[in-house]
Amino acid sequence: MNAIEPTRIVADLLAHYDRHRRAMPWRALPGETPDPYRVWLSEIMLQQTTVATVGPYFRSFVDRWPTVADLAAAAQDEVMHAWQGLGYYSRARNLLKCAKAVVADHGGQFPDTEADLLALPGIGPYTAAAIAAIAFDRPAMPVDGNIERVTARLFAVTGEMPGSKPELKRLASTLTPQDRPGDFAQALMDLGATICTPKSPACSRCPLRQHCNAAEQGIAAQLPRRAPKKAKPTRHAIFFWLVREDGAVLFQRRPDEGLLGGMVMPPSTPWRDAKVWRDGEALSHVPLHTEWRALNGVVRHTFTHFHFDMTVWVGQVTGDEPAGIWTHPEDFGTLALPTVAKKVCKHALDGGTLL
Ligand code: ADE
Ligand code: SF4
Repeated sequence: MNAIEPTRIVADLLAHYDRHRRAMPWRALPGETPDPYRVWLSEIMLQQTTVATVGPYFRSFVDRWPTVADLAAAAQDEVMHAWQGLGYYSRARNLLKCAKAVVADHGGQFPDTEADLLALPGIGPYTAAAIAAIAFDRPAMPVDGNIERVTARLFAVTGEMPGSKPELKRLASTLTPQDRPGDFAQALMDLGATICTPKSPACSRCPLRQHCNAAEQGIAAQLPRRAPKKAKPTRHAIFFWLVREDGAVLFQRRPDEGLLGGMVMPPSTPWRDAKVWRDGEALSHVPLHTEWRALNGVVRHTFTHFHFDMTVWVGQVTGDEPAGIWTHPEDFGTLALPTVAKKVCKHALDGGTLL
């Protein structure tokens, strides 16, 4: 086991950074003073998004709103529109809130400490540390996925993620230099993005090779370790395909909160873990008492955290029709149907084979 010597690691990595730093539109050139507005904007955009994707968005934002005061004066609609395609839209809403707070509460200047930054909308521990270090040269360590990986390898941390996160954060912080902490953090990010990559780290050309315990032990590519992915559970529901005499089909809008909030679906039983329905159980959820016939086959849709197996029952309206969104098949295109609902529609319209 190598003893980790932070001073030497810092010196070796900064020397490498000075020759190989990646040029990025938000990075100050050597000797330039970073603009906190640009640092903040880039760090918010870079969350959950790649450097390549962010580039054009970053440029168009700073062209259009060159200062935080310009952005604070923008309409929310304009900002949301400019953000379109970056995803995770709550970031854009918080971006505007934060710009307004910087103008209203800080005279248009970003605060220069981690604690004050953390108090702003949309700024969490990672972003506060990143801005404090990169924009203000405060000793802080913004630990992202790249820095976690490099740290796990340097220190040969073999515990599983995500449980090891606090340990990796602590160890990464032991490296934070007093001098050039912002460059050092960005140098670690660059190292993780270009050399110490997830699947095949290029240890032979790494400036930290001599310091690295995982490389020494030949286990670099295995770190950080992750618990094997859990098999996804399967949930089940029956969808009720209720057809009116004129051919229109019943849909309902889901509540705004939760999965598929505000989207339109045919009515169904609750989604649940058990596969088999007891006698009469499914019938207690039908939108209308009529003769229901089950379609052959199961429709499967996979969400992030579970598989969803759906059976479809078909019925005809007799008597009074229940309230809902009655839509003819040729007009299904006008509905906000999520993919899962489109699969149900296709199965029902194909008719399956009636049991
Ligand atoms: N990812 C997030 N912030 C970054 C930065 N400042 N440099 C490189 N990659 C990053
Ligand atoms: Fe990563 Fe290999 Fe460098 Fe260690 S020697 S930091 S594992 S690239």
